[in-house]
Amino acid sequence: MDAPPTVGPATSARSDDRGFGADQPVGDGTRPSWHARSGRLTARKRWALDELAARVAPRRADPFEGRPRVALEIGGGTGEAALALAATQPALLVLVAEVHKASLARLLLDLEAAQLDNVRVLAGDGRTLLAAAEAVATAPEGAGVGPLELVRAFFPDPWPKRRHHDRRLVDERFVRAAASALRPDGLLELATDDAAYAAAMTAAIRAETRFVPAGPPARADRPATYYERRATDAGRTVHDLRVRRRHDPGAPTAGTTRSTTPDPDKGHA
Ligand SMILES: C[S@@+](CC[C@H](N)C(=O)[O-])C[C@H]1O[C@@H](n2cnc3c(N)ncnc32)[C@H](O)[C@@H]1O
Repeated sequence: MDAPPTVGPATSARSDDRGFGADQPVGDGTRPSWHARSGRLTARKRWALDELAARVAPRRADPFEGRPRVALEIGGGTGEAALALAATQPALLVLVAEVHKASLARLLLDLEAAQLDNVRVLAGDGRTLLAAAEAVATAPEGAGVGPLELVRAFFPDPWPKRRHHDRRLVDERFVRAAASALRPDGLLELATDDAAYAAAMTAAIRAETRFVPAGPPARADRPATYYERRATDAGRTVHDLRVRRRHDPGAPTAGTTRSTTPDPDKGHA
């Protein structure tokens, strides 16, 4: 198993309480939702993990920084979607979590080049941030309102074998946590190229009465990701699921899925 990279000591002036999550297990017996993948890292990528990760790690004491607008992407890969979102919405604090070292290093290098100051990168299990957001909502002063306006997971590992289904990132527990972590009108956006996983995601969403359908995804702030390009190049159908956190819990939800059959002549924009 490839352990999540350890975030080193904070080095920048603003980072005295950085380091959320690198040493915080989910703590509920949840198995890793990622595949162990190794590979050689270039010296530059090792430098990114050693030096840049600590500068942009979420704040330990308050990963949401008391900000009015916060988004969380779990399994952000090389960060294309997170960086595009942050660039188009400078007032939004974008938290992105990734465990794969090579992807993480690419994300950190691209973030450094883009010079965006509204992105925090968790080198660890993103479910710890979701749990922290849930805790904010359930705290007495939270009044049941989560700190997030957007939760995203694009092309999470599908774990197709039945005996591995409990390793899937998106299940009923994840959807419940997202519903608690999101403020009213907040969005949960998921995508997968695995039809069986899409069906399981849809079932998990339907089991959660706090979500209603939210229409097609806004492609302007979500470029096709690395895995999405691989899927469409291979002719696989991309399933987008997008739901909105309702104000009045209790009412039933309707259909939630939109499937996109790849068109080689058209991008997603
Ligand atoms: C199939 S890749 C997709 C990456 C990216 N979203 C894309 O579309 O190109 C799934 C990624 O999720 C990461 N991942 C899986 N579970 C995670 C978790 N609990 N926290 C953070 N990253 C996770 C994996 O390391 C992997 O890089």
